[in-house]
Amino acid sequence: MLRREGSGDVKVFAFDPEDYRDEYRSQGWVHIKNGIAPEFFELVREFTRCELLDHRLEGFAIKGKKEQALFEFPQGFDHGRELFDVISVLCGLNRPTLTLSERHIQAYEPSAAPQPAAHKDRFGSQVSVGLSIDIPERSRLVLYPYDHRGLNPFNASAALRNALTPDELPEVALEAAREVELDDEPGDVVAFPGSTTWHLRRDSANSTNLYLKFNDFNCDPLGEDPHTEGLRAATLDLLRNGGGQGQEVIPVVARRFDAVSRTSTRNTWQEVLQARVWGEEPFPLTESQFKVLQSVDGERTLEAVARAASADGLDPQSVETDVRALAERGALDLMVPARASAEAAGV
Ligand SMILES: [Fe+2]
Repeated sequence: MLRREGSGDVKVFAFDPEDYRDEYRSQGWVHIKNGIAPEFFELVREFTRCELLDHRLEGFAIKGKKEQALFEFPQGFDHGRELFDVISVLCGLNRPTLTLSERHIQAYEPSAAPQPAAHKDRFGSQVSVGLSIDIPERSRLVLYPYDHRGLNPFNASAALRNALTPDELPEVALEAAREVELDDEPGDVVAFPGSTTWHLRRDSANSTNLYLKFNDFNCDPLGEDPHTEGLRAATLDLLRNGGGQGQEVIPVVARRFDAVSRTSTRNTWQEVLQARVWGEEPFPLTESQFKVLQSVDGERTLEAVARAASADGLDPQSVETDVRALAERGALDLMVPARASAEAAGV
C-alpha cells in the first residue's frame, strides 16, 4: 500500500469543472485532455507499479480480462475538496449527498480480448470517471450514449446480463447503435454516466486506468467511500445507546444495502422474503419490515416515518421496532439531525 505523509494537499484534477460542466450536460459525457494533475498522475503510476508487482510476487491474479486493485489515496487526502467539489460541479450532482462508490485500478492483461462485449457499470456508478494512466496507441474507449440507455439497477455490472433477454444483450442490441470512440491518452480524464451507458475498451491489452465512480444517492455497496464505515459505526453507537429511543433520528437506507428478494421455493411455491447487505448472507424480512424499508426516504425523522405508517394502518410502535431491527442488520443507517445537516454541509 502506498502511503505518503503530508500529501493532504495533493490535487487530482488539473482543470476547472466550471469550464466543462455545460459540455457534460449537453453532450452527456466529457473527455478532458491532460485533465489529471501531473503529481497525481505520477502517484497513480507508482501505486500501480507497486500493486502489480505485489500481485506477481504473491502469484495473485484476478481471473478474467483485467486485474483490479483498490486505489488508496494518500494519507490526509481531502476527498471533499479534490473529488466531491469538482465532480458535483462537472456532472451536476448533489454535493451534500455525493458518494464515492468505487476507486479501482483497472489493468488489462496482455491477452485481453481486442473487442470485448459492452457492459454497463453497477448501479452506484451514476457517473464513471476514468483517469487514463497507461494507454497503448491503438486502445480506444467506446461509448454508446444514444441508444439503450436503461439503468443497470443491480449492484454488480455482470448481474445486468442475467436479466436481459437474448435480443437485449449488447452484442445484439448495439449492432446498429451509434458509437463514440474516444482516443484517450495518458493523463486524460473521461466522465460519463456509467450505469446507463453501454461502453467498452477496444484493444485494451496493457492499458491501465484509475476508475472513480460517484453517485448522489448514498449507494456504496463495496464500502469504498471514506465516510461509509463511520456512518455505520455511528448507527451502531446510537443503537447501543438506546436505539434512537427518545431521540430524534433520521433513518436512511444503508450505503451497503443491496436488495430484497422474494423466492418461490419448489416446495408448493412457498415464498421466502429476504434482505441482503452487500457481501453478507441474506436475512429474513417480515412484510411489515419491507414496508418500513420502502417508506424510508432519508429526510423524515423516525417519528415522522412512524406517523405516516400509522396512517396506513401500521402500529407506530412496531414501526420503530422494525427500524431498529433493520438498522441492527445493516439495512438502514440512523442519522441524528445534527449529523445529517453536517453531512448536508459536506463536513
Ligand atoms: Fe465500465
